[in-house]
Amino acid sequence: MASAKEQIKGFYTVDDAISMDYETTRDLQLKHLNRERTLSGGCKYFIKADGTKFTDHEGKEHLDMIGAVGVASVGNNNEFIWNELEKAFRSKQYLMGAIAYHSIAAAFAHNMALVSPGGRLTKMGTATGGAEAIESVIKLVKLATRGKPERTRILSCEGAFHGKTTGAVSVGGKEKWRMYQHPLMESVDWVPYADADALEAALARGVYSAFFLEPIQGEGGIIVPPEGYLTKVRALCTKYDTLMVVDEIQAGCARTGKMWAVDHENVVPDCLVFAKGFSGGLVPFGGFICTEELYEAAYGSVETCWHHTATYQENGLSATAGIASLEFILENNLIEAAAEKGAYFIGRLKTLQEKYPTIIKEVRGKGLMIGLETYEIPDVYKEGYGDYFADPINNDLVEVYRIQVNHTLNNPAVFRFLPPLTVTLEEINYTLESFEKCIQSALAHTGRNAG
Ligand SMILES: Cc1ncc(COP(=O)(O)O)c(C=O)c1O
Repeated sequence: MASAKEQIKGFYTVDDAISMDYETTRDLQLKHLNRERTLSGGCKYFIKADGTKFTDHEGKEHLDMIGAVGVASVGNNNEFIWNELEKAFRSKQYLMGAIAYHSIAAAFAHNMALVSPGGRLTKMGTATGGAEAIESVIKLVKLATRGKPERTRILSCEGAFHGKTTGAVSVGGKEKWRMYQHPLMESVDWVPYADADALEAALARGVYSAFFLEPIQGEGGIIVPPEGYLTKVRALCTKYDTLMVVDEIQAGCARTGKMWAVDHENVVPDCLVFAKGFSGGLVPFGGFICTEELYEAAYGSVETCWHHTATYQENGLSATAGIASLEFILENNLIEAAAEKGAYFIGRLKTLQEKYPTIIKEVRGKGLMIGLETYEIPDVYKEGYGDYFADPINNDLVEVYRIQVNHTLNNPAVFRFLPPLTVTLEEINYTLESFEKCIQSALAHTGRNAG
């Protein structure tokens, strides 16, 4: 039998791809994938990712302080997750197929119900990522409220980010990601984030089926609402018969020092959306958990149960990554670790903010979800340097100190740290020392005083 390479000139096998050099990889990526994003994103070629460390094609080591934007909560290429995935592969269970019994998906849904807020979100829908999960929740809400013709609208928050598919940008709070996709789902309104009075005024209109919110806004700039806000949201949603949907795609999975960010206020939403951290850093995954009442109202009839299907739903490999992530987090006390290391990290950053108040405007975050808002750079220094101090600092951290971080998508003044929850104190200290050097270099460049 002729090999694929013999049949198709230029064909690359997996072995070829794994050992591909930088130049070939670059050429292929620029030619066949998104050229402009690759070039403007400052991409690196990491040939190895292990825990919190990356090795690039020149053999240089980099520290992962962004975890693929919150994906690698358990670290990169975690051996435990790998082994569990391998077990699932080798079991030769039927891992695909939407319409079959799936023990691993059922077990994951069961485990998630156990760790869900108040143990009350006992039904699950799965997806292949965050935006698809959000899409499926938009539909869940619509189906569940189909008997309430006055409630055709969804309420969301200014600055919110829920993904970039058409439905997800429709409920997102940034026109930049919507502008070329109109006409969108037009039945959406927005209220300022963390403003309970504005929320009540909107909900009192009686037209909203659901209120979507991030318990901590991620891409909006790591915005932590004042304590008590989530509790108020819960009370207002109940009072005005509106479903409370929390997007924990970035803030969930132990990142903020609780399994879920809503757990900080013991709030039980009607629906919670997850993704990122439950991938084990290895397998695309997302989904929602919700109350039985909500799920049954949407899909609890023979007529409506077929209104949501997807090829990879209840996928065995994704569910394996989900179970393994939960197990690793629990057995390695990563919830407590995120709380403790996060408090230390944020505390030290706040000290730096006091020392350099002309550069850092605010340090925000909870656990290991941390953002730094910086000041705008004076116009005379902007060209080739950046609009906000976040730009040169981010750039120096990545290029000079080889620490991976990035900006928040909806707020360019802010860059953030979302390291694997396994990050060590030494790594945090190295980041802090490097960060201070970046600030000093920005001060020197712009002729500013520290205070
Ligand atoms: C809060 C939140 N929701 C949704 C998404 C979209 O997830 P995905 O990129 O997997 O579509 C993200 C991604 O960063 C997110 O942070």
